Amino acid sequence: MWNSRRRRCDKMVDELHKQPRPILNLPQKFVSDGVTFPGYVRKDLKESIEKFECRDDDVCVYVVTYPKSGTTWAIEMVSLILNNADTEYNLSKEQFARVLVLEMRLEFAQRIKFIFLVIYRLLTWLMPRSLQETMKYWLAALMASDGMTYLNSMTTRRLIKSHLPCNFFPRKALEKKCKIVYILRNPKDTYVSYYYFHKNNWFHGFYDKPWSEFYKACVEKQLPYGDWFDHVLGWWKHNGEKNICFLKYEDMKRNPRAALETLSSFLEKDLSEEAATKILEHCSFESMKKNRTVNMSVNTFVFDLKRAAFIRKGTVGDWENHFTVAENAAFQELYDKKMKGSGLNFDM
Ligand code: A3P
Repeated sequence: MWNSRRRRCDKMVDELHKQPRPILNLPQKFVSDGVTFPGYVRKDLKESIEKFECRDDDVCVYVVTYPKSGTTWAIEMVSLILNNADTEYNLSKEQFARVLVLEMRLEFAQRIKFIFLVIYRLLTWLMPRSLQETMKYWLAALMASDGMTYLNSMTTRRLIKSHLPCNFFPRKALEKKCKIVYILRNPKDTYVSYYYFHKNNWFHGFYDKPWSEFYKACVEKQLPYGDWFDHVLGWWKHNGEKNICFLKYEDMKRNPRAALETLSSFLEKDLSEEAATKILEHCSFESMKKNRTVNMSVNTFVFDLKRAAFIRKGTVGDWENHFTVAENAAFQELYDKKMKGSGLNFDM
């Protein structure tokens, strides 16, 4: 009697150990359909996505990625293609205020948004210039903090950012054949970049454990927005459809001019030689690293860039400085198994 109870208890402990332990501490995270989402994603994601307006006359372009695949870089290129290389405009406004994240909604920001707006409208003229600039910045951030509401109210062309897995993406956008740019990056570099993003970002818990722990979270599918393989292969099912352009980070790195041409021809925009050169200069790694509208240096509420830079290394192959030989062997085996037959290959 006692032995059988003991055996049952041991079995339960074994089962418990087999369950993945939460390695990441993500403030305000939530889980939907088995995918973990970071705290800045709206909690009513599924219902609001159903209701997201996709108008008949809608001219909108989505830039979609698994996080850390080069989203900011691609958005900067796409926005400049669409606005005829108006780099002055891009430099006048933070990227997050120009291109909203579809799934973002910060509850706290919604509560203070209108009080802030009133103070800004009534009192800014009394403030010194530097404080006026700071107020303007925070107002833009507050306004951008509810992506769908803002985007629904827009009447002009919409450029939209999203990290949603394909099964969460607005069906209407796929059916109406809105233009979608999907950027892919090899999983090893993507995960390494995500590791540093967890270190410097409040929503990702200012992660302070070593890479080896984070690696476990990657292979145990604990990362926000889910597993790289599920995300990429989910979207890759649409490969060959006319309204989706797949572009690899590694190809953007190897030949930025060719990547720009691919994007501009997909967006049906002719670029003059002068405009292309201007865009490429604005979008170079060195230039983006210094650019305060994209490098998050002003976003001190969410980012602590002393822990790690946002525009960090921008290279292919940084994984070699992080993966151990054993981790790489195990990951390569997983990669070969998952990617078999997909026709998708990466330089790593
Ligand atoms: P690393 O962390 O490997 O440096 P995202 O915008 O999706 O968050 O992706 C961030 C990654 O893109 C970071 O990778 C960042 O350095 C890289 N990146 C940003 N701008 C870049 C550019 N102009 N050229 C190359 N890489 C860039």
